[in-house]
Amino acid sequence: MSSATASAPSKVMLLGDHAVVYGYPCIVTAADLRVQVTARLLGAPEVTIHAAGLAQPYATTVEQLVSDRELPRKVGFVAAALRHFWRSHGAAFGVELVTRSQFSQSYGLGSSSAVTVATIAALAAAAGRAVDRDRIFQLSYETVLEVQEGIGSGFDVAAATYGGTLYYVTGGKAIHPLAQGALPLVVGYSGVKARTTDYVRKVAQMQRRFPDYVGFVMESIGKTVDRARSALEQGDHELFGQYMNLNQGCLAALEVSTPELDALISAARRAGAYGAKLSGAGGGDCMIALVGEESRAPVEAAIRGLDIPGAELLAVRTGAEGVRLEPS
Ligand code: MEV
Repeated sequence: MSSATASAPSKVMLLGDHAVVYGYPCIVTAADLRVQVTARLLGAPEVTIHAAGLAQPYATTVEQLVSDRELPRKVGFVAAALRHFWRSHGAAFGVELVTRSQFSQSYGLGSSSAVTVATIAALAAAAGRAVDRDRIFQLSYETVLEVQEGIGSGFDVAAATYGGTLYYVTGGKAIHPLAQGALPLVVGYSGVKARTTDYVRKVAQMQRRFPDYVGFVMESIGKTVDRARSALEQGDHELFGQYMNLNQGCLAALEVSTPELDALISAARRAGAYGAKLSGAGGGDCMIALVGEESRAPVEAAIRGLDIPGAELLAVRTGAEGVRLEPS
């Protein structure tokens, strides 16, 4: 039976978090920590999913998975991607899926979107279907929306699919590749795992209570992203860093920053970073700092020196390649 392996990158949101959900642009970069998925077609109408963190593989029948309303949480994205692929393929088939990740899903670096994109690409290749990146993006974004009950701009799915650094507008209305290659970033995990959907709902609640105020903050973030895009295209990292700081001010106003993130951000700025902010939904996950050649070592030392339980410095290279097939 046919089999194929695909891998997709993680992501780091550089600017535009939350505002992208409200129709403003964001800038996201793909990161080199990857998720890999192998799909092996089976002769029998059975489905088996092996994933890290599962004591035993998840096993079911094709018929059962087609009709299941509730998907098991630990394999929710993979199972939902499989169902989406079956629908688009016009037939359901037995398959064994094996997922492997180079990073913890606690970091908030987009493991769900990466595993979804890699699953779709591996299934397409195993089933002998030519599926281009735009179709992979579309199927993967639909999958993510289904699992997250309609929440999510899809910026992480775009990074996992296309790779590089992207200027992105929600739903893929704009997906423009920006600077090539890696950006000089320092990434620090705050030690706290946050649920994106909780924080998107929290901001939505604030927006209902204070529509003018939240509208003004979102618009400011949108302007910051557009100006920062020009700075990035001109290679002006110092200016881009200042926009990161302004963006962080807006995110703090939306009350999604945390004491741990604030401590990481202040330490990075004090040690000479051009700019630092939270990356993603807030409530935890990661801080990113843009550094120059001379400030990288002091910023990394400052992050390492903080006494925050569970916090750690992550080795992440940005501008990574999008989804790709791997030798099986
Ligand atoms: C979460 O990583 C980023 C948010 O903007 C949500 C989204 O864009 O889907 C908060």
